[in-house]
Amino acid sequence: MTHDNAKAPRNAASPSPGADAKGRVVIVSNRLPLRMEDDGKGGLRAVRNVGGLATGLGPLHEREGNLWIGCAEGLESASRREQKRLENALTARSCRSVLLDPNDYERYYEGLSNSAVWPLFHGFPQFAMFDEDDWAAYVRVNERFRDAVLAEVRPGDAVWVQDYHLMLLPSLLREALPDAAIGFFLHIPFPDYETFRMAPWREEILRGMLGADLIGFHAYDYVRHFLSSCRRIAGVENASGTIAADGRLAHADAFPLGIDYERFRHAAHDLRIRREGKERAGEKGRAGCKTMLSVERLDYSKGIPERLLAFDAFLDRHPEWKGRVTLTLVTVPSRENVPSYRALKKRIDELVGQVNGKHATLGWTPVDYYYRALPFDRLIGLYAASDVMLVTPLRDGMNLVCKEYLACHDDGTGVLVLSEMAGAAYELHEAVLVNPFDRGATADAMLLALTMPEGEQRRRNAPMQRRLARYTSQMWASEFLGAMRDVKRRQAGLSARLLGPKPASRLVEAFKKAPRRALLLDYDGTLAPLTGDPAQASPDEELLELLRRLGEREENDVVVVSGRRRSTLEAWLGRLPVSLVAEHGAWMRALPPAAARHLAAARPSWTLLKPFETSWKDEVRAVLAEFVDRTPGSFLEEKDFSIAWHYRTCSQELAERRVIEAKNALDDLPSAQGLSLLEGSKVLEMRPQGVDKGAATKRWLRDPAFGFLLAAGDDLTDEDMFGAAPKKAWTVHVGNGPTRARFALRDSAEVRGLLRRLAEAR
Ligand code: UDP
Ligand code: G6P
Repeated sequence: MTHDNAKAPRNAASPSPGADAKGRVVIVSNRLPLRMEDDGKGGLRAVRNVGGLATGLGPLHEREGNLWIGCAEGLESASRREQKRLENALTARSCRSVLLDPNDYERYYEGLSNSAVWPLFHGFPQFAMFDEDDWAAYVRVNERFRDAVLAEVRPGDAVWVQDYHLMLLPSLLREALPDAAIGFFLHIPFPDYETFRMAPWREEILRGMLGADLIGFHAYDYVRHFLSSCRRIAGVENASGTIAADGRLAHADAFPLGIDYERFRHAAHDLRIRREGKERAGEKGRAGCKTMLSVERLDYSKGIPERLLAFDAFLDRHPEWKGRVTLTLVTVPSRENVPSYRALKKRIDELVGQVNGKHATLGWTPVDYYYRALPFDRLIGLYAASDVMLVTPLRDGMNLVCKEYLACHDDGTGVLVLSEMAGAAYELHEAVLVNPFDRGATADAMLLALTMPEGEQRRRNAPMQRRLARYTSQMWASEFLGAMRDVKRRQAGLSARLLGPKPASRLVEAFKKAPRRALLLDYDGTLAPLTGDPAQASPDEELLELLRRLGEREENDVVVVSGRRRSTLEAWLGRLPVSLVAEHGAWMRALPPAAARHLAAARPSWTLLKPFETSWKDEVRAVLAEFVDRTPGSFLEEKDFSIAWHYRTCSQELAERRVIEAKNALDDLPSAQGLSLLEGSKVLEMRPQGVDKGAATKRWLRDPAFGFLLAAGDDLTDEDMFGAAPKKAWTVHVGNGPTRARFALRDSAEVRGLLRRLAEAR
């Protein structure tokens, strides 16, 4: 499982790109990138572990002098003295080991990680075993990792958590370090919603990942799948990948991992390595025999049996290639204690036997099969000497082997046959792309590759090599860390506006001092939390009491400014001493000025802003009704002067499409003249032009008698109110996202907290 040229990390003079320029990057993954072995002379030597993660992040760890926290093989079973010796050797190489209970480790690694998450995320739900004890161990191990990180991390460091073993770690760290820069990268695919929702702990997993500031994936499709599951399972929304999770801004994006291109290119130039590779590639074949190579961990996601069967089909169809081509099949032992891996090993052994038994001749063996890890030089030699590289996984998050092969062929020759199902296929589209499930097509691709003229090989390889040389693993890491700093900057911009303790106290002081005050408060999402069914959002006792206490004070004008029907507002809030604005300002029920209030009739009446035309409603209703039919979960709400189409509880992918269609359909209506289409929070609403919350609240916003003005709202319709407010007004946006308001509160609970303080202020 090793490269034997793993080096100790250099302590580079250049600063590492942490959360700030001086901070370190603390990489955290299940497995450390290297392990210590006896050097046969009483000492220890470091050898690098196999796998995309270790190779991909190795350069960042080595070149930046950063820290890597993970499990060290063999540590648990070693004597105390031996443990100390191993730990010292690892510390000297900027690695820290996490010591875990062996039983927990087994359930977490072989169980939950590799018998549930790995198969499910790679699209093999039939192999996924969901066991509650495994999950409990997974939680415990993630907690141990949290403790290990907390023991090491310093202010200014960036913590970068890697892969599916540690999906809960970002939020565990977030609880302890609310402001830390925390990144998460998933090195395997993120499955579509239909698959992901099978996981019994799906919401916990999502919430765990959402603790990070930046969540990275190898391909944009995985980002889409993740965001879709966040929305549908956890109700967490996003706008272009920017997520509002628990009032905190986070971001999800694609960063395709590259390789250390120059390292592979240089190594392949070493003549000694080339010669050895050639000898090795040719030793089982004959002169003039071409070599097709495949190298990977022995894993069912890699499509090894399918490839062998395709080779078998190729030899059946093209017997003229017998004796002229060898398939060198290198499988690296991996997760040998997991039953599905053991079964696969048996199947591959049998298939190799079958293909060789069926096609071999006296001087020629079609499949040259190895079950072991290759040292780096050997691997490079094989890459460089092979005419064709077969990388045909059934599913692979990225796949680095295909990139390494191309880096070892800078003369431009060599043919890469690549599975469409590998993340790398998004970037390497000039390769011979195949569907690995299509045996015939894979056999055809083998023929195409073996007979491809050198000119075409070079033409295809050149653009891929240019891309690989540019977007290296170093570049990948620095782009990710740069994007993480961007997220931190955006968060800082937002928190400067957050109505934290200091500005909130200033607000309360200003309220106390002013002889007259106006509180203009949106209802849904501001006074009450948003719900899937608007009818369920009636005010609770606490809210009613709060509004009553505020409204009773002579100095206060409390105005609930809503898009709701007047009948709803009347029924819910009609008994309170507050003014009401319904249908975004079409209707108003204003209380008389403070001094005259006690003389006024028990219930003030509603007035209409102006007479409105309603003849357009039939046509608009008919159009929107069709959208209701075609968008399950959506519904219409008809008000006196508007019609609203709500889609909060629908599939948001579908709703996004339908919204575009609906906007086009409504735009084209002749009767839409004089109307405006309002896009609110999960609602499209047709209403008369000139009606908005800004116009409706002018009488308070423009009246200099009000020494204190508070306007609070969460929706696009509230932006009109913020826009119309004078500069000195306390405008407060609820939630995050762009706004014209001066301040922000996270949610309606925080609005309540503020109103409570105002109700108590004397
Ligand atoms: N590798 C290795 N020794 C071997 C075979 C493979 O070090 O004998 C390395 C290979 O160079 C590559 C990594 O293992 O960098 C495999 O990464 P990939 O992303 O292709 O697959 P993964 O194992 O992560 O699924
Ligand atoms: C894949 C995973 C890595 C893992 C590697 C080797 O690349 O994404 O997280 O380290 O395989 O697997 P192993 O189980 O041996 O660590």
